[in-house]
Amino acid sequence: MTTATNRVKIFDTTLRDGEQSPGATMTHDEKLEIAELLDQMGVDIIEAGFPIASEGDFRAVSEIAQRSQNASICGLARANFKDIDRCAEAVRHAAKPRIHTFIGTSPLHRAIPNLTQDEMAQRIHETVTHARNLVDDVQWSPMDATRTEWDYLCRVIEIAIKAGATTINIPDTVGYTAPRESADLIRRLIETVPGADDVIFATHCHNDLGMATANALAAVEGGARQIECTINGLGERAGNTALEEVVMALKVRNDIMPYTTGIDTTKIMNISRRVASASGFSVQYNKAIVGKNAFAHESGIHQDGMLKNAETFEIMRPADVGLAGTSLPLGKHSGRAALRAKLNDLGYDVADNELMDIFVRFKELADRKKEVYDEDIVALAQAGAAPE
Ligand code: KIV
Ligand code: ZN
Repeated sequence: MTTATNRVKIFDTTLRDGEQSPGATMTHDEKLEIAELLDQMGVDIIEAGFPIASEGDFRAVSEIAQRSQNASICGLARANFKDIDRCAEAVRHAAKPRIHTFIGTSPLHRAIPNLTQDEMAQRIHETVTHARNLVDDVQWSPMDATRTEWDYLCRVIEIAIKAGATTINIPDTVGYTAPRESADLIRRLIETVPGADDVIFATHCHNDLGMATANALAAVEGGARQIECTINGLGERAGNTALEEVVMALKVRNDIMPYTTGIDTTKIMNISRRVASASGFSVQYNKAIVGKNAFAHESGIHQDGMLKNAETFEIMRPADVGLAGTSLPLGKHSGRAALRAKLNDLGYDVADNELMDIFVRFKELADRKKEVYDEDIVALAQAGAAPE
């Protein structure tokens, strides 16, 4: 039974779903480098691309397949033999190759190829069987699962399992679900679909309503044991579940979510920066875990608390995500304690009355400038105190 384990696999799709983000195209070398970092950080499965989509994608998936040391290497394929054959060709040199094939099963998506329910069911049977004849590890996804009729969803999942799928991924393709519904859907599928106990259920959430991380974690509570995610939450429209968020949530709140991953979290910050520069999508300042301000405190009360005990305003240690330390940027909200700490860092040991004087001038300056830099503090200190 797959839910008997508390180990959650991390399936990273930065190089496939992430790269599908308009404008996020990465070069071949950047993809190889990111795949290597993902492999080193302990990702279980790397979805390296969509081999039929272009020569470049095919080449990237096959080179990543040849180089990867630990992770399974997966390629995406639509539900047709040509896509699946191309995908199998791309991943064949991987130590652990996986084919991920999918088809849109909701009424809206069934209307596009104009297939009846029965015709689509037959197509799923044939394509999953074909993929399974090529590799041992086949993932199947009913795209737009969260808007697919319940009975039909159960029916097609059963067909995919019987045809040999080893992972059933439940995509919330348009970020439509909500946490309770996400948990219930996986739980009910595992209880209802014959053969569900023999496969791993995965969750693949998009962030259109800002709930991708919450929905993925809820799906794990419902029994999913694979989370599909991307670095920095890169991905179509509002993006995918962010790897760093689900991994750190499971680590920090392990008391209430007792699941583990194989991720070395100290490698998070480096890969986040690399993905940001390769994709050209900079990380918003207040982004959870990896934003510039995620471990920065400007206000006086917070800075004073942090100088006394870091746990007052931080629930994670910066080192846990690969950051050298907390930052206490000086601005108009900062107080005397942080100013004194900064002066000490810069080599100025000032008496209380000097500090008061520097503080008054610092506040005047901070009112005019967004950020006060070290050079500004040095200038203020030199006018008011002699360095040690
Ligand atoms: O969001 C989605 O439905 C997908 C599928 C291809 C799994 O990315
Ligand atoms: Zn997706």
